[in-house]
Amino acid sequence: MEARETKTTEYSSANSTETFEIGAGFGEKATPGTVLCLDGDLGAGKTIFTKGFAQGLGSKALVTSPTYTLMHIYDDGRLPLYHFDVYRIDDEDEMEEIGFFEYLRGDGVTIIEWSTLIAGLIPDDAIRVTITRDPAKDPDYRKILVTRSE
Ligand SMILES: Nc1ncnc2c1ncn2[C@@H]1O[C@H](COP(=O)(O)OP(=O)(O)OP(=O)(O)O)[C@@H](O)[C@H]1O
Ligand SMILES: [Mg+2]
Repeated sequence: MEARETKTTEYSSANSTETFEIGAGFGEKATPGTVLCLDGDLGAGKTIFTKGFAQGLGSKALVTSPTYTLMHIYDDGRLPLYHFDVYRIDDEDEMEEIGFFEYLRGDGVTIIEWSTLIAGLIPDDAIRVTITRDPAKDPDYRKILVTRSE
């Protein structure tokens, strides 16, 4: 079997507006079936990135964290956006119950905050976005690493 080639791009963000804009850029380019994983510590900026992503898709919705409901749908943009936050998931089976696989197969775009908690369910071709702080830098600085397989 041929190994997948991966391509990593690194972005620097100085503040939440820059993270929003980086997210918006991905939203503008998203195609049906895109799956994007968002990982990083509490308060890293995953939801801010998603807010930008939604705007990039053309949605005017007020994106909020679906921490307790696991998912919100925003369908007023160019493509439907399925925004998952699995921070409070107890068992991967819950994802099947809420229809995760139907959403993945659909024509919308799926974003998953805390995707590493359901690592076994993530498709191989998902875009991986990891947001990290750097203690040596400004508290608002974030490194945003984006890895995708070709
Ligand atoms: N460069 C930056 N990018 C993104 N957010 C930043 C940045 N600098 C500071 N912040 C602040 O960090 C917080 C990020 O919050 P956000 O809800 O997006 O994090 P999160 O990763 O979704 O957290 P959670 O794990 O709780 O879902 C906001 O309060 C935002 O203003
Ligand atoms: Mg969040």
